[in-house]
Amino acid sequence: MNDIITLAVETSCDETSVAVVKNGREVLSNIISSQVEVHKKFGGVVPEVASRKHVEAINMIVQKALDESNITFEDIDVVGVTYGPGLVGALLVGLSTAKALAFANDIPVVGVNHIEGHISANYIEHKDLEPPFVCLVVSGGHTHLVYVKDYGDYEVLGKTRDDAAGEAFDKVARALKLGYPGGPIIDKLAKEGNEEAIDFPRAYLEDGSYDFSFSGLKSAVLNYLNSKKQKNEDIVVEDVAASFQQAVIEVLVEKTIQAAKDKGVKIVTLAGGVAANEGLRNLMRKRCKEEGIQIKYPSKILCTDNAAMIGCAAYYDYIKGYRADLTLNAVPNLKL
Ligand code: KG4
Ligand code: ZN
Repeated sequence: MNDIITLAVETSCDETSVAVVKNGREVLSNIISSQVEVHKKFGGVVPEVASRKHVEAINMIVQKALDESNITFEDIDVVGVTYGPGLVGALLVGLSTAKALAFANDIPVVGVNHIEGHISANYIEHKDLEPPFVCLVVSGGHTHLVYVKDYGDYEVLGKTRDDAAGEAFDKVARALKLGYPGGPIIDKLAKEGNEEAIDFPRAYLEDGSYDFSFSGLKSAVLNYLNSKKQKNEDIVVEDVAASFQQAVIEVLVEKTIQAAKDKGVKIVTLAGGVAANEGLRNLMRKRCKEEGIQIKYPSKILCTDNAAMIGCAAYYDYIKGYRADLTLNAVPNLKL
């Protein structure tokens, strides 16, 4: 069989990324230009600013991805692009670029769901990984527990009813005046703190539910900080970080293990920015070992937003015969 080369474009949030991927799992280039320094001073992503920064960067990032992979348009079989979920203005920059390149070079386009992209990062990292498995997708915008039955065939078992896991990390970090994005900072501080210092609530919800809720936990942390301030008592930031992180990850891990048992699968995977969290990786590894389940997760660069994961998902869509046309549009609240 001839090699299939995918050019992939990802602009759903604040990373402008273009990748070239061979046969779905071999990354020839994966250029990521982060806008995080620009959004830092606002404490979060400003959508209009994100769109403008994507416009400024995208053509140069496409060129870099081609140069680094030594690939020209003649070699490319398909252009894959994220069309949702995400910020509408940001998505449109990637979509317009992808469609223009595809049209000008007479190459088909495939639209990719960003969450499917995150799940697919595991295929790049683990060349022998095949469905079925259960995947916990935890990022700044999403918290989904997914049963991956086959390539492109997903059953969403549960999701967050309010804040995403990464959003909770970012909001708590903001309350602690730690900076943005908060996840990596809390992760680091948590290593020096006592996770049992403060008994924050765990939201398991109704029996058998695979949904999540983090807004109660976030309020509990804010109430704790306010009460300490009112009483003029010292706050041990490391202990708050460790206790908060533990409350998040215990629920994530237990629900994921339960889902794997219920579905009778022996592999659990992690995906999304929060999958970079050391505490989550460690606790998931420990619990999976106890339960005789394999655990797999992508390297950190493939956990956060990148186009290689979109190229992988686009490849599996392409070989199934899926093609989009040039009416492909952004769907900000696209479901898996
Ligand atoms: O997947 P991602 O890059 O973008 C979205 O699709 O949302 O995820 C970004 C999120 C942010 O909320 C960030 O704080 C969180 O992932 N994050 C982490 C860690 N690294 C990134 N959260 C906890 N621990 C980390 N090490
Ligand atoms: Zn993402």
